Amino acid sequence: MRLAEAGWHTTIAARSAEGLEQAVARARDAGLELHPQQVDVTDEDSVRALFDRVAADGPLHLCVNNAGANSSRLLVKPARGDRPLQRYPLADWENTLRLCLTGVFLTGREAAAAMVEAGVPGTIVQISSAARGGAYGQSGYSAAKSGVDALTRTWALELAGHGIRVVGVAPGVISSEALHHHCERDPRHADYMERLRERIPARRWAEVREIADAVLFAAENSYLTGTTLEVDGGGLPDRV
Ligand SMILES: NC(=O)c1ccc[n+]([C@@H]2O[C@H](COP(=O)([O-])OP(=O)(O)OC[C@H]3O[C@@H](n4cnc5c(N)ncnc54)[C@H](OP(=O)(O)O)[C@@H]3O)[C@@H](O)[C@H]2O)c1
Repeated sequence: MRLAEAGWHTTIAARSAEGLEQAVARARDAGLELHPQQVDVTDEDSVRALFDRVAADGPLHLCVNNAGANSSRLLVKPARGDRPLQRYPLADWENTLRLCLTGVFLTGREAAAAMVEAGVPGTIVQISSAARGGAYGQSGYSAAKSGVDALTRTWALELAGHGIRVVGVAPGVISSEALHHHCERDPRHADYMERLRERIPARRWAEVREIADAVLFAAENSYLTGTTLEVDGGGLPDRV
């Protein structure tokens, strides 16, 4: 919505047709137009088909790699009472890397291919995270986001000659509907998040718009490439 507001012809893509419809309706209520497309970023054929359909609207100038989800698990959780020692499940690790890193690889690769083929300059913006330097209980997520930063730097080097910039945006915790619902459903989580918030230098979460503004800045600042903008209120604590 922030991109559309700034005048970009904007496609939004996700798996759920219903979710897309809701987003389009919300934008329409705000006087904005979004063009919905279904995609699963973890599926190579689905991503290639998305970029083929988007090309029908004209050359691609910007791709924001946003799809991602956090998963919180300790590497090992010691045995307690009758419960045996627990290991970080391999399936969680693989699913997180598949969505948060392979998904970015596939969409970034197809965006670059579309821009190079069309011979137009463009920008790829990748949503990283303040967790990317390593974060307590987040082996898969922090490793994936660290990988996203590595792709940002690598692709900036490889694509600069084609006039393509690649920029990361690394949010701290965002004050999203999902966060509020989770906290309402689970008082223990709400308590944890409150303690976390108190230890962020800015003492508050990011507003969604503050992250969207950073994406817009990354999209429009023509000398910015190969770097990740930290939009995290001063950073997250190592542990709460
Ligand atoms: N929220 C935070 O506090 C926070 C902090 C730092 C970084 N981030 C990063 O910001 C990005 C967005 O996070 P968010 O909190 O806004 O998450 P969100 O509300 O869960 O939204 C994620 C979006 O990705 C889509 N998606 C998920 N899996 C997909 C797939 N396989 N293929 C295509 N689309 C898929 C979802 O739609 P469907 O389910 O319909 O596919 C949804 O639209 C993520 O990269 C996240 O890591 C978030």
